Amino acid sequence: MSEREPHSEPLSDREFNFTINDFDRIRQLIRAHAGIFLGESKFDLVYGRLARRLRATGIRKFSDYLKLLEGGDQREWQAFTNALTTNHTAFFREPHHFELLSEQLRGIKGRNPIVLWCSAASSGEEAYSMAITTVEAFGSWSPGVNIIASDIDTEVLETAKRGIYPAERVSRIEPERLERYFTKATGPNGPQVQVKEEIRRLVSFRQINLLQPHWPIRAPLDAIFCRNVMIYFDRETQLQVLQRFAPLLHRDGLLYAGHSERFSQAEAYFRLRGKTVYELAPALRQGITT
Ligand SMILES: C[S@@+](CC[C@H](N)C(=O)[O-])C[C@H]1O[C@@H](n2cnc3c(N)ncnc32)[C@H](O)[C@@H]1O
Repeated sequence: MSEREPHSEPLSDREFNFTINDFDRIRQLIRAHAGIFLGESKFDLVYGRLARRLRATGIRKFSDYLKLLEGGDQREWQAFTNALTTNHTAFFREPHHFELLSEQLRGIKGRNPIVLWCSAASSGEEAYSMAITTVEAFGSWSPGVNIIASDIDTEVLETAKRGIYPAERVSRIEPERLERYFTKATGPNGPQVQVKEEIRRLVSFRQINLLQPHWPIRAPLDAIFCRNVMIYFDRETQLQVLQRFAPLLHRDGLLYAGHSERFSQAEAYFRLRGKTVYELAPALRQGITT
C-alpha cells in the first residue's frame, strides 16, 4: 500500500469503489466551497462520511456522485458539506474567553445595541455560553445584547435552534448554572437538557459560509467569535476572512480565536491582545469611529 493510500481495510472490502482520484476531487471541491483543507490522511474518514451519502441517494459509484455535485445539485451540495464538517464543540469551551467577554461587556455597558457574532457556531453550545455570559455580566435576563450565530452546516444549526442536548454535554457545567439556564427532560436516548427559552431568545441562528462573497451581518460588532474553524483553512483563506472581519468591528471590538489559531499573517488588521484574543491593529483603531 502506498503512503497515499492509508486504508484500514482492503479496497475490495469497501461497499463502494473509492479511488485516490475521487478523494482528490472531493478535497478540491470542499476546499473551494468551504475553505476546508482535508489532508491526505483523511481518506478513510471521507470515504466513511460520504458512503452514507451514496446510500442515501442510491448512487453506486463515487464518480457518479461527483457528477451530481459537479452538475450543481444544491441539496446534495449542502448534504456533502454537512457530511465533511467537523463539529466538535462544548459549553464554555476555552473558559478564559468567557471571562474576558464578561469583562468586555461590563466595559461597554449602556452601548445600544451590543452585537456579538458567533461565526462557526456548530450545534449552539458556544453561542448559548455567550448568551449566559451576557445575562450574568449584566445581571439581567434582558441584557440588551444581540447574538448572531452562524455556521455553514445546516444540520448542526437545526440542533442549535432546538437547544436540546444529551445530559452528558452539560456534565461540566456548575450545578447553579445548570439549574438556572437549563430544563431537564428525558429523550428517546436517555436524559436530556434544553437551554431555557430566556437564553435561546437572545440568539438568532442563520446559515453563513465564511467564504461566501457577502455576509448578511451589519457592522458594528462588539465581538466576533471565530474559534476552531480557521484551523481548517489555509493561511491565505484565513487572511481573506480576517480582512473582512476587521471593518465589521467597533474600534474596541475583539476577535476571539481558537486555542491553536495564530493569525500573524494578518498583523495589518489584528494585533494579539491576550491568549488567542485579538484587537484591531492600531492604525485601524484610529481610523474607525465607534
Ligand atoms: C470544530 S467546530 C467549532 C465550533 C465552535 N466554534 C467551537 O470552537 O467550539 C467548526 C465549525 O465550523 C464550521 N465551518 C466549517 N467551515 C465553515 C465555513 N466555511 N463557514 C462557516 N462555518 C464553517 C463547521 O460546520 C463546524 O460547525
